[in-house]
Amino acid sequence: MVAQRLVRIRDATPNDMQAILIIEYKCFKDPYPLDLLNRLHSMHPDTFLVAEADGKVVGYVIGALRWGETGHVLAIGIDPQCRRQQIGSALMEHVMNRLRAKGAKLVRLEVRKSNVGAQRFYLRLGFRERGEIPYYYEDGETAVAMERPF
Ligand SMILES: CC(C)(COP(=O)(O)OP(=O)(O)OC[C@H]1O[C@@H](n2cnc3c(N)ncnc32)[C@H](O)[C@@H]1OP(=O)(O)O)[C@@H](O)C(=O)NCCC(=O)NCCS
Repeated sequence: MVAQRLVRIRDATPNDMQAILIIEYKCFKDPYPLDLLNRLHSMHPDTFLVAEADGKVVGYVIGALRWGETGHVLAIGIDPQCRRQQIGSALMEHVMNRLRAKGAKLVRLEVRKSNVGAQRFYLRLGFRERGEIPYYYEDGETAVAMERPF
């Protein structure tokens, strides 16, 4: 029998930024630097969430509300050792609820065209593809733009 781990979703605090930075480096080839993470946290404190398993930060999501009605997921990352345990889904559900409570009518995000796994993840959460944005990333890769209405 596999022991069920206790996973808790909570607001990120400034003390979490170092752990989030480490996960960023494990997840992305163009990770957000620490000063940007700190800035995003001070701009969006109630839509910057972490997932804690057994007291350790294992994932995070950064949401933002733009123009009053548009929610945006800026980043989500789960420690590679903790993937496929529904932690990413729990973070997304929480941040979407927060954005909705703040007035968002929909949520948008961009994902690398090569990141087919993340696209499947978002499709499972009710997102639909709304188009492509060529040269969106610094290395020239195209983004797939996705949206989920409430
Ligand atoms: C994408 C990511 C956030 C998913 O987090 P996760 O906690 O592993 O996702 P969940 O366990 O909640 O997955 C829910 C469902 O989404 C789908 N899914 C998730 N990851 C998938 C993958 N790599 N390939 C295919 N489907 C996937 C599956 O249907 C999964 O359900 P299942 O495990 O029962 O089959 C995680 O893989 C990650 O951090 N990736 C690196 C960073 C990244 O790409 N972020 C998004 C950039 S826009």
